[in-house]
Amino acid sequence: MTILFDPNFQLLREDQSIRVFNILLCISQGCGVLAVLLVAIWMGSYENGFAWSEDPSREFNYHPTFMVMGMVFLYGESLLVYRVFRNERKKFTKTLHVVLHTMVLIFMVLALKAVFDNHNLNRDEEGKPSPIVNMYSVHSWVGMTVVVLFWANYIVGFISFYFPGLPVPMRQLIMPFHQLAGLLIFMFASVAVGMGIAERAAWKNSCWTQHGEMCGKQLVSNFVGVFSFLYTICVLLLVANPRWRRQPLPEEEQLHHLTSSMSHHSMQD
Ligand code: HEM
Ligand code: HEM
Repeated sequence: MTILFDPNFQLLREDQSIRVFNILLCISQGCGVLAVLLVAIWMGSYENGFAWSEDPSREFNYHPTFMVMGMVFLYGESLLVYRVFRNERKKFTKTLHVVLHTMVLIFMVLALKAVFDNHNLNRDEEGKPSPIVNMYSVHSWVGMTVVVLFWANYIVGFISFYFPGLPVPMRQLIMPFHQLAGLLIFMFASVAVGMGIAERAAWKNSCWTQHGEMCGKQLVSNFVGVFSFLYTICVLLLVANPRWRRQPLPEEEQLHHLTSSMSHHSMQD
């Protein structure tokens, strides 16, 4: 398998390789957009739409919607930045990577607020406060692990590579861990999404289990999971192929000539 990650292993001509990249990119975008669209339809139409804390049961609906938009779609887009804009200046791609990850953070925090409000502000049928316990399911535990690891990678990434920025040898040391952690967290974000869908379906999608028929809501929610997984797989494939990696621009080689003997040029800034 390691041969697949060898940049000198070339099965395709350059133009063919670029074509495969473009096709895979289109498929990834199709799956990502479908995942976001379907979760919005599921929560917006089948689950009565959105509200803030004035109606905690509908506030929940922001949770899956923002998690899929942030932790799946925008997260994946942020990783693709270094592949799609591989001929742009590093400053541009890095800034875009940071901006997209910051948007992921905002969506994630709002999604967490939505589900915690939904539990803490819950009322019984008579309108009396009746909070639901927090953090009981395996979904919430895996989800929270993903959230904490994401924050850690964000803080370390920001300080090391953006502001104030660490010295080059430190960056070289941290970068492979940053990349590996970033990819693993991305994979487990979609695992958490799958578990979240199952969690919700177990409580709310009773059409199949109780009435024996596959209703629209069940179909839509299942497809949210499938398209999230397919999007994640496409992004991982696009990021893994060394031929589609960003190479330093000629002027950047000049700028970093002291360190350009490194095997992985991109670690330099
Ligand atoms: C990466 C994405 C996700 C993360 C990090 C995440 C995280 C969490 C966390 C930490 C909780 C616990 C909240 C509490 O105890 O008050 C929770 C609850 C919940 N989430 Fe998610 N979630 C994600 C995606 C989803 C999705 C797509 C759904 C689909 C509907 C979903 C459904 C639920 C449900 C039903 C609960 C309440 C029951 C429970 O605590 O397990 N989640 N989520
Ligand atoms: C917010 C501050 C961040 C900064 C300044 C930053 C910076 C960078 C830089 C400079 C690269 C190298 C790109 C290259 O190969 O040329 C990179 C790659 C990467 N980053 Fe970040 N990053 C940040 C946040 C994050 C976060 C929060 C995650 C995920 C949790 C993440 C995941 C990744 C991954 C997976 C790669 C490898 C992508 C690839 O090979 O194309 N980053 N980051």
